[in-house]
Amino acid sequence: MQFKTIAIHSHQHPDPVTGAVINPIYQTSTFAQEDAGVHKGWDYSRCGNPTVDTLAGVLADLEGGKHGYCFSSGVGALVTMCNALFVPGDHLLIGDDVYGGTFRYTTKVLAKYGVEIEFIDMTDPQNVEKAIKPNTKMVYMESPTNPLLKLVDIAAINHIAKKRNILTCVDNTFASPYLQRPIEMGVDIVLHSTTKYIGGHSDVIGGALVLKDDSLNDAIRFHRNTIGANPDPFNSWLTLRGLKTLGLRMDAHCASALELAQYLENHEAIETVFYPGLPSHPQHELAKKQMKAGGGMISVRVKGGEKEARQLLKSVKVFTLAESLGGVESLIEHPALMTHLSVDPKVRQEIGITDNLIRLSVGIEDVADLKADLAQALQVISGKAPATV
Ligand SMILES: Cc1ncc(COP(=O)(O)O)c(C=O)c1O
Repeated sequence: MQFKTIAIHSHQHPDPVTGAVINPIYQTSTFAQEDAGVHKGWDYSRCGNPTVDTLAGVLADLEGGKHGYCFSSGVGALVTMCNALFVPGDHLLIGDDVYGGTFRYTTKVLAKYGVEIEFIDMTDPQNVEKAIKPNTKMVYMESPTNPLLKLVDIAAINHIAKKRNILTCVDNTFASPYLQRPIEMGVDIVLHSTTKYIGGHSDVIGGALVLKDDSLNDAIRFHRNTIGANPDPFNSWLTLRGLKTLGLRMDAHCASALELAQYLENHEAIETVFYPGLPSHPQHELAKKQMKAGGGMISVRVKGGEKEARQLLKSVKVFTLAESLGGVESLIEHPALMTHLSVDPKVRQEIGITDNLIRLSVGIEDVADLKADLAQALQVISGKAPATV
């Protein structure tokens, strides 16, 4: 089956008792047992629930993996994975431009338990080769990165890690399995914030891990049950509903984002556009190699500084000023003041999260309306139209 068919039909069949086409929400914490320890496969919803397990199964199939697990958030997935796989003294190599919450958890929590965390620029795979130490346990990649939309060569880095038996994980949140499939490139674990494109409607928080094979499965399952960062059945059902249209939505996000990126690139009020689908993106060739399209996220540096950036945020009318991404509605945000506030200001400057950087999550509204909205807001920051707010 192809992607859009898997998203709709995998693990989802009409209910044999009622004929219901849509899988029910098993909103239950516990399950009746015929005899002590004798049940139909589920005993307690922290350890497994039919609705949650259906979502996990579909995600595993869409990523081309063998085992899937769902969590109450993307961060819950990250914490569970790290608890399962790291012991004191291990070394974690991680991209220097990852999601702010990943930065916060690894530096402020995981490091407390004796795991050595090292951030490096992974846009050159040789940096990974050079940074590997005898105690390196995992190479953790994010591609495209948040918010600078840098790419890492997943296959090349995975190859370097595998030569030394080092685990690899890719945060595939920005691309979604529709655009990029790290497990097919040899990666061991794919991590998602299902809050974003997978859910797709900005109405749930969730996360997932998909594993390539059996070797890590017991550890992840044990820690999932033990830590308890579980999603509830209703959230999982909403995510399943959103997931059915992932392919259609991604096609629309990508087409509109490309059109807007081209428009912004030629706008006098914009200094730089970061979008992997543009030929001007320094890793456009890599994008073509490992992604199906450029994705729905664009970052721009406006001409000027924080003042101009704030003015743009206040002048848009269709885009909503909000954190998060990947929903049907377009969002706009200021990484330095919002999503990446927890990153040390010095580090933010070093890696390019400047005060004039704005991140756009392009939704699936009519692109003409999105373009007109940006056009009128950019008129304001160019001083060609009065600020109305
Ligand atoms: C790339 C990426 N990974 C992980 C997360 C964490 O996900 P959640 O907010 O669902 O915990 C986010 C959240 O923005 C993200 O953007």
